[in-house]
Amino acid sequence: LERTFSIIKPDATERNLTGAINAVIEKAGLRIVAQKRIRMTREQAETFYAVHKERPFFGELVDFMVSGPVVVQVLEGEGAIAKYREVMGATNPANAAEGTIRKLFAKSVGENSVHGSDAPETAAVEIAQFFAGNEIVG
Ligand code: GTP
Ligand code: MG
Repeated sequence: LERTFSIIKPDATERNLTGAINAVIEKAGLRIVAQKRIRMTREQAETFYAVHKERPFFGELVDFMVSGPVVVQVLEGEGAIAKYREVMGATNPANAAEGTIRKLFAKSVGENSVHGSDAPETAAVEIAQFFAGNEIVG
């Protein structure tokens, strides 16, 4: 079974939406095999989003990710990476399909409630940034 890395972002934890988002995740057939609530350090956020370092919104993105608690997760399932991207919906909630997490809950393109890995290589790197092997229980 494939694994993907998920973050429930500060805009969602602030509105107490962890359980509501997890319900959408589980209803889609994905299993939450690791989960913890943390306060990301600035260094962790900068490392995590290093690929966007040159983008104009990078500073805003890092500020947002350290602005409150996040819930980091590992999700497991058949085609978990693509399935979770589908369940999350488009980056900009204005373009997100009905029933997706971002359509249901996201506030804006920046404060868009969730992150999900975009490929197997990035999933492996992202999972390893936040979880030890023995913290993931499939
Ligand atoms: P992630 O799953 O979070 O990686 O989202 P994504 O893959 O749908 O989008 P992308 O990787 O292109 O961008 C990463 C994150 O940067 C997005 O989820 C947003 O939180 C943020 N972001 C992207 N575009 C903008 C923007 O135009 N303005 C702001 N403020 N943030 C943006
Ligand atoms: Mg991305």
